[in-house]
Amino acid sequence: MPNIENPTEKSLAELGINEPSAVEAEFARVRERFDRQIVLPADEIRNLMLREAWVGSESDPATSLRNFWVGRKSGVLTLITDNWLRKAPPSLKGVVGKQFNELKSHIERKLGEQRQRLEAEADQITLAHDHIDLSLPGVTRPIGSHHLIRQVFQEIEDIFVSIGFSVVEGPEIETPYYNFEALNIPEFHPVRDDMDTFYLDLPKGAPTPLLLRTHTSPMQIRTMEKRKPPVRVIVPGKVYRRDNPDATHSFIFHQVEGLAVDADITFCDFTGTIEYFVKQFFGPGVKTRFRPSYFPFTEPSVEFDVSCIFCGGSGTSAGGGTCSKCKGAGWIELFGAGMVDPAVYGFVNYDAKTVSGFAFGMGIDRLAMLKYQIDDIQVFFQNDVRFLRQFP
Ligand code: DAH
Repeated sequence: MPNIENPTEKSLAELGINEPSAVEAEFARVRERFDRQIVLPADEIRNLMLREAWVGSESDPATSLRNFWVGRKSGVLTLITDNWLRKAPPSLKGVVGKQFNELKSHIERKLGEQRQRLEAEADQITLAHDHIDLSLPGVTRPIGSHHLIRQVFQEIEDIFVSIGFSVVEGPEIETPYYNFEALNIPEFHPVRDDMDTFYLDLPKGAPTPLLLRTHTSPMQIRTMEKRKPPVRVIVPGKVYRRDNPDATHSFIFHQVEGLAVDADITFCDFTGTIEYFVKQFFGPGVKTRFRPSYFPFTEPSVEFDVSCIFCGGSGTSAGGGTCSKCKGAGWIELFGAGMVDPAVYGFVNYDAKTVSGFAFGMGIDRLAMLKYQIDDIQVFFQNDVRFLRQFP
């Protein structure tokens, strides 16, 4: 409800105006009022509209002000036309008309200017909001690096590829046939105990049990099934065993399997290849040795050792005590290997009388720990960037 009387709602006669000078004075008052309002900031316009709302106030103060003055139905100019101009006595018509026209063009001009100003301000705000400062530094996303295990895989692959091996990969979920039987490890063979692993829960009636492979050796079989000799492959990959985690054990770890089968591969080719690899990997200074061992899929089987990288093979630490890494032996066990057992060829339709070959399987985590002097295998799986950053 308007709470301040609006003179434009009355006729000039009702206002007691009957002189041209009084008409001019009344128009001047209206104009003053407009001039005061048009320069007000938005929140004051809002207050003003609430206080003096001669017309309905809009949510947008500038629109309210505009409606208040030039609104077609009950804006001030319409009221003046209806109440002052139309109802003016002939003697005042001229002066009212002239004053009205002046007031009208003044108000319209000012409102036009205000609209332009507001639009420019809005543009400025949008601009400031969307402004892109090209001089600001960009958002840099740090580039990661290969995990140390991946780096070591790569080193090993490079060495073997350089002497004619190719790289193949195989499934981490295996059947007992590939993981055991075809590698000459029948059911109830005692070595299965060491390799007891994770079996998958399968629906009843599944054609074969499935397990997480305990070693990369199944790929020997899969490769020989697919390729005729000569075969020279290495197989990097993850393997799983039901080991309790400690500094040297993890239920998931990494191996690189190797297999070379051809018409005339001898034990000499085997030792030469392995020694070449070890010297490339650890440096020319290391010494190597074989010890007899046992694996169902190799005959003869060996365990391959290197001279201790920590004490140089002396068994004595720099401080004079016993070397804690090799426990004074001067040797460190590296991996298992051997000449492929002829029984294995039977599983892949190779003729054991005409082919021979060697195989090896090394634990990559162990090789990485030795080479980079890491004393806890768990750091490979913890993803602690303080560790990872040491191997950029
Ligand atoms: N598969 C064996 C293991 O995980 C390692 C191994 C030994 C692989 C001798 C071989 C081999 O290829 O000839 O313990």
